[in-house]
Formats: sequence, C-alpha cells, structure tokens
Amino acid sequence: MRTHRDFLTFADFTKSELDALFKLAARMKAGRYRRKPLAGHALAMIYLKASTRTRVSFEVGAWQLGAHPLFLSNRDVQLGRGEPITDTARVLSRMCAGIMIRTFAQADAEELARAADVPVINGLTDEHHPCQVVADLMTVREAFGTYEGKRIAWIGDGNNMANSWLDAAWRLGFELRLACPEGYEPDPALLARARERGRVLLTRSPREAAEGAHVVSTDVWASMGQEAEQQQRERAFAGFIVDDALMSRAAKDAIFLHCLPAHRGEEVAASVIDGPRSRVWDEAENRLHVQKALMAALMGGEPLAAAAATGRGSPRRPKPKQ
Ligand code: CP
Ligand code: NVA
Repeated sequence: MRTHRDFLTFADFTKSELDALFKLAARMKAGRYRRKPLAGHALAMIYLKASTRTRVSFEVGAWQLGAHPLFLSNRDVQLGRGEPITDTARVLSRMCAGIMIRTFAQADAEELARAADVPVINGLTDEHHPCQVVADLMTVREAFGTYEGKRIAWIGDGNNMANSWLDAAWRLGFELRLACPEGYEPDPALLARARERGRVLLTRSPREAAEGAHVVSTDVWASMGQEAEQQQRERAFAGFIVDDALMSRAAKDAIFLHCLPAHRGEEVAASVIDGPRSRVWDEAENRLHVQKALMAALMGGEPLAAAAATGRGSPRRPKPKQ
C-alpha cells in the first residue's frame, strides 16, 4: 500500500494542508523550528535543467533539517545515458528518503513518482512549478497577511508558472487575472477547472489584468527548453512588459513578484524589479523556507494539520537508510 505523498502539482495539497505548510514555513523562517527530522537521511535531487534557487534552497534546506542532499545532474548519472526513469526511482528509493526532480515533461516526474517508494517533489517541469508558487504565496501572506480576497495578476507566458497559479487559484480561491498573448495561453484544462471558482480571467490586455491588482507577477518569455523560440516570442510578447506604467494600474500597495531569473528590459523594467514594490528577494529567500516545510512534512513526518482530515493518514516517516 502506498503510504507516502508526493508534491507534483500545487493541487496535490488541500487548502488546509497548504495553510499548514505556510505556517510551518513561517515558523522556520522566524527561527522557531529547531528539529532535524531528516537526520540520517538523504535527499536525491535530479536536475535535467539548470537551477540556482531550487538547487540552493533544497540543498541548504535539506542540510538544515539534517539530511544529506545529493545533486544528480543528467551529465553525471546514468539517467542521462538512457537508464529508465523507473529503474532510477527504484534505486534511489532504496537509499534516499525523498527525491526532487527538475525535468522537461510532467509525465516523467509522474512516472518517477509512480515507481518510487519515497516522496517525490516537483522542482519544475515544462507544465508546473508548484514549489515556486508556494513561495510566492508565502510572500503574498507576508505582504498582506493573507491571500484571501487578493487579486493576483499574471502578465506574459501561459507557462509552468501560470499553470501552477491556476492550480493555486482553484485550491485557495483568490482572484487570478492572466494576460497572455494569443497562442501562449495556459493549460486549458487547468484554466477550466480554476474557472469553476468563477474568479479567473484570461485576457489579452496586460492593463486589464493589472487593474487594481494586489500582486503583479511575470516570468521570462522563453522558458528553459524554448531558447530557439526567443525571437519569435519577443515579437509575440511585445507590449507585455511590466513597467511603471503597468504597475500604476495596480493597487496602491501592490507588490511585484518574479520567480527569477529575470531579463530586465524584456518582461520587466529594471525600475520595477529593482524598485520599491519589488519583493523578489524575499520571494527567492522564501523558496528555502517552503522547501524545508515541504521536506519536513513529506519526508520527516511533520504533520500538516489536515493530513488526518483527508483520510490519507500522516505522511510516512521512513527509518534512516544507512
Ligand atoms: N525560480 C527558480 O526556480 O529558479 P531556478 O531556476 O534558479 O531554480
Ligand atoms: N518558466 C521558467 C521558470 C524558471 C524558474 C522556466 O521554466 O524556465
């Protein structure tokens, strides 16, 4: 019987679990969590794409919780030479208490999770970036005390980040306004599901999306793996820059978020990302606290308030494998 939980999309956790996760991450950030629930364990981190924040936050976070993090890039491990992902999952499960994967297809992360006997965390795929949106919402909670009743604007590509924002709007019920150029919309199934809550708008107009928003967020126009489309995307996204004129449409106390890395002068003006409304450095730091909360919950048995309420039991706390 499967006794562990994965975090492959933002929607994998219920609202109450997510709220508990935000609280645990805030406790960790405030220095009020001193346990080492992963002592004696190892975290395998598979990277098929580059990373700064995800790598450092998982690596430092795992170490702070007592675990040994293993950086496994496809340049070094047999996965990059064609070893099946399922075999990799089985082997890593025998030696590690959890696996984080950053890869291209979401289906690969799901295949890994099906074959693994330990929790698998999505550290970004082409379709989802759930850890980032948890950190973004932690930053929103820090700025406003809550995400409830807030209007979040997403300006730009309907990419992995936009999809995870849709999942977040569906789970948590805040208002989400996405402005995407034609042909660059988010996943239609996730959009339809999020719209069940009735507070999701998809528009071609960045101004309409930003109007009265408490949070304005954007991302690169060409994500990892789309480098060859850079010029075509620059043409498609002309007019989608988050600049001071666009920020002036937002609420007076609006904040600006960007998952980073950013291209100043492309999707965001330097005056915005380096300006007083920008919270991008808090947002980046929050990756650490969120990653720690996630690992403590999924791999270390730290209870999320709702674990029992969902009927799925407490997350598994594996014995150290050593
Ligand atoms: N935001 C984010 O995931 O950054 P990295 O690609 O540097 O990990
Ligand atoms: N959408 C970007 C996010 C990087 C953190 C990408 O996938 O490259």
